[in-house]
Amino acid sequence: MTNTIQGLKPKLLKVKLSDFLEHLKLPDEALNFIFKAKEVAEKQGKFLYLAGGEVRDFLLKRPSYDVDLVIEGSAADFLEELRRNFVFEVLFSSPFLTYKILLPQTGFVVDLVTARGEVYEDVAALPKVYQATFKEDVLRRDFTINALIYGLSPPYPEMIVDLVSGISDLERSLLRPLHLRSFVDDPTRVFRGIRYKVRFKLNYAEEFYQALYQAIEAQAFLKLSASRLRNELLLFVKREGISSLPRLLSECQGFELFSHSGLEVDGEKLVEGLKTLKEFVEILSPREVEDAFLLILAGFKRENLKRLFFPDSVIDRLIKLYEEFRTNLKALLTLPLIERVLKFDKIDKATLIALSLYLPELKEEIERYLFVYSKVYPELKGGDLKELGIKPGKQLGEILKKLREEKLEGRLKTKDEEIAFVKSLLYSVS
Ligand code: CTP
Repeated sequence: MTNTIQGLKPKLLKVKLSDFLEHLKLPDEALNFIFKAKEVAEKQGKFLYLAGGEVRDFLLKRPSYDVDLVIEGSAADFLEELRRNFVFEVLFSSPFLTYKILLPQTGFVVDLVTARGEVYEDVAALPKVYQATFKEDVLRRDFTINALIYGLSPPYPEMIVDLVSGISDLERSLLRPLHLRSFVDDPTRVFRGIRYKVRFKLNYAEEFYQALYQAIEAQAFLKLSASRLRNELLLFVKREGISSLPRLLSECQGFELFSHSGLEVDGEKLVEGLKTLKEFVEILSPREVEDAFLLILAGFKRENLKRLFFPDSVIDRLIKLYEEFRTNLKALLTLPLIERVLKFDKIDKATLIALSLYLPELKEEIERYLFVYSKVYPELKGGDLKELGIKPGKQLGEILKKLREEKLEGRLKTKDEEIAFVKSLLYSVS
């Protein structure tokens, strides 16, 4: 391996630093950090470069917001010298020879990593890493289009360095892993590849299929830990957004990736679930969208939920709720409105959306709840009732509930009407 690496002849493309930095949408503090880092690397005779997505995005003329700096040689010595010239804070360093650096004025975070090689001792296990040359650092990566680097200091200052025909693959819109065991080592790369395929409208190179076949043979997807599977699938939503979900998931289905990963997913439900998610997206926070996405994928199946790293206590609660609703559907739908609303109040939005998908009889009711009823509250709050002379306790709770019921049924419109209603209640009690 080492001989072939040493023998690789890089293709070089001169790009002025100012031109390269222009596509990185960075605050001045981060730009100044890069300039200083470049100076220190030059002084120490170390090769410093930007790697990964930002070089690919530069060539694709797309903006990029990350800074992934790589230093060949000891990052610790490099940081020590840099610290004498620039104010920053190391948020944390990891056993993977990576550092997260916080720039205090803007709160911008830069990733600095030591050029490293990786050894995968087990299928789908996290690798052991060791300090290595930039060539090894390039060749440990996932796809040729992500293995491009931009040199900041000698021997390749202000140059894109391409050891793996990444530029030509980008030009031909091809997604090619760097070697055929790539997905056996790290099956998350297949999900990443699908994201790149959809995001940049790429085609899979023949090697993609070959590497995928090897990963399936080695049961790499089954061996992938639940937390990594969950995180990777969440990146579909976090990085690509929900409008890309149908295409991303249909790629996964095409390769039967869910079943290879130990998930039992109903394709039709999934398609319907994504439509449902879209309908609700405007009333959900980003976190709720992620939760709903995972629940739609898992359904209320214990094994699926486990595979997607839901804690046991959450799984128990979800399945109990689903069973309770499933077996009492009729009773639930004939409950007085206020009772139904109070039941739904106790359930988070993501779970309600998943319930509306897997118990379609509830769909309309849950829709009405999420879009309308959940927002209907009386103007009078507990404090107002106290001012009207009601002591805190059971009676106050009951009056609030009655007020909400009247409001839900549309019988109270204004605050004055609410006050009159409360007074009438008090009068009838005394
Ligand atoms: N990488 C890899 N294998 C992985 C994860 C990451 O080889 N399983 C490498 C790739 O070279 C990638 C780089 O680490 O380009 C940085 O990873 P990340 O920030 O996740 O991806 P980006 O390429 O920056 O892509 P995105 O635009 O999705 O952030």
